[in-house]
Amino acid sequence: MEFPFNINHLFSERISVLDEVLVAGRKSVGRPDHQANIATVIDELGKASAKAQQLPASITSASKMQSQKHQLYLLKDGERNGGRGVLVGFLKVGYKKLFLLDQQGVHIEAEPLCVLDFYIAESLQRHGYGLELFDFMLQHKNLEPVMMAYDRPSPKFQSFLSKHYCLTQSVPQVNNFVVFEGFFLNRAGSP
Ligand code: ACO
Repeated sequence: MEFPFNINHLFSERISVLDEVLVAGRKSVGRPDHQANIATVIDELGKASAKAQQLPASITSASKMQSQKHQLYLLKDGERNGGRGVLVGFLKVGYKKLFLLDQQGVHIEAEPLCVLDFYIAESLQRHGYGLELFDFMLQHKNLEPVMMAYDRPSPKFQSFLSKHYCLTQSVPQVNNFVVFEGFFLNRAGSP
């Protein structure tokens, strides 16, 4: 996704991690123009993701990021667009208190890290960028994908989880979150 400003001025790293402060590294501190452009990037990516998932409204925007304790991983390709860079996609995660059913149908209260939104620009899908972003997040959080919960995963995302992480057997829930076999197993004995 291209923007009318230089992406490399906003994001120095290939993958940037943003929280509610919406600052990507020291470059943007005290730069309201950079902050406004970062907000534009998040809003446009959020709209594109909602469209791709046929959602009635964006679930990711700069204002939502500022009011929720989520983390956004943004992947850029700094070489494209004549060296001005493009945004390849994003992954949004956050902790949620959930009431889940284990394999025996017993209610369990848990607060796992959840995948809340995930989007790679249409023309760049199926090139391994999603995997690069997801693997970065797993390392950053020091987490196995089976320990996470997934908010209404789309068919493409389900295929992604199956292909890259062998996550195929989900445990039926009464809410929109999906967890996989192993989620409860690996929690046994954990605090
Ligand atoms: N159709 C079916 N499966 C797909 C497709 C597609 N069009 N695109 C990606 N996948 C899955 C497949 O398993 C594919 O492997 P294959 O090509 O061998 O079939 C695998 O992902 C490819 O892996 P990557 O290239 O690393 O994935 P990609 O960069 O395409 O990112 C993503 C995956 C984020 C799901 C991307 O396809 C996308 O943005 N889709 C549209 C938006 C979306 O559905 N987001 C998930 C929302 S649900 C949530 O966030 C909780």
